[in-house]
Amino acid sequence: TGLAEFIAGIPKCELHVHIEGTLEPEMKFDFAERNDLVLPYADVAQLRAAYAFHDLPSFLKAYYEGMEVLLTEQDFYDLAWAYLARAHAQNVRYAEIFFDPQAHTSRGVSFDTVIRGLRRALMDAYRLLDLRAQLIMCFLRDLPAGYAMATLLESLPYKEWIVGVGLDSDEHGNPPSAFAAVFERARAEGYFLTMHCDVDQVNTTEHIRQCLAVIGVDRIDHGVNALDDPALHTEIARRGLGLTVCPISNRHVRGDLGHDALRRMLELGMRATVNSDDPAYFGGYVTENLLAVSEAAGLGEWEVLQLERNAFEIAWLPAGVRDHYL
Ligand code: ADE
Ligand code: ZN
Repeated sequence: TGLAEFIAGIPKCELHVHIEGTLEPEMKFDFAERNDLVLPYADVAQLRAAYAFHDLPSFLKAYYEGMEVLLTEQDFYDLAWAYLARAHAQNVRYAEIFFDPQAHTSRGVSFDTVIRGLRRALMDAYRLLDLRAQLIMCFLRDLPAGYAMATLLESLPYKEWIVGVGLDSDEHGNPPSAFAAVFERARAEGYFLTMHCDVDQVNTTEHIRQCLAVIGVDRIDHGVNALDDPALHTEIARRGLGLTVCPISNRHVRGDLGHDALRRMLELGMRATVNSDDPAYFGGYVTENLLAVSEAAGLGEWEVLQLERNAFEIAWLPAGVRDHYL
């Protein structure tokens, strides 16, 4: 259709993608082979067939299991490079990429190994593809806050390579307030702040409230449930905070794309954006997400442009650099 070509052609911005969630089954087999690991799957098709998620915990189990093949700096380079090349092919001009250091340090892979591989891929993408990208370090909220703080301190020598911090993994029973001290210190070190407020979770509106009142986030990841509470969505709109909505991910963990919510956010003047989350697991990069949600919500070219304008506006870039994309 015309809209598909339009979406494919415009310059795009990705603000919510977990690099470990871009591990395609083919890559997983390659990494396993070169690291002398044997996967409990006969082939790519069997592995892909195991990607049948109905909620966040079932996804997270496959996600953490999947990344066990990532061991060397070259693995992290290759993973990030594959994503960046793919994003470039979709006309993504700027990306903010999450990584989960604790998912690797907890397995004995060093922080230095992870970040050097990722950083080198980002530098190559900038030089060779004119694709700018920055890293956001996420803490795993189902691990103790002390481990998050230790990870924050471990990141400080690499501060220039990290633009912000986030909070991901299983939200249930792991509220933002538990990480208040970690995020306060991160802010003092100059990091931007964001947190996942997932769509299928109990107490998510309370978590969004804490993000605003306790943490003082610069952005909210997902955050769709803010629409359930006028006090929340009014405040988010008033502060001009961005929301990184991930439609195809929503469909997997909650059963629908969140297209009605996205249309409402635009009507309310909220800075909603469309992103891919874990594209290798959920089956859609940014173009597929934009197309799916636009068709479901009945959005036209103007609204699609607004979504991308929102994304570049809330990107964690210096004003002079941001202007180049708007
Ligand atoms: N880690 C990777 N993807 C995630 C998601 N969608 N929600 C929470 N944690 C995640
Ligand atoms: Zn996410």
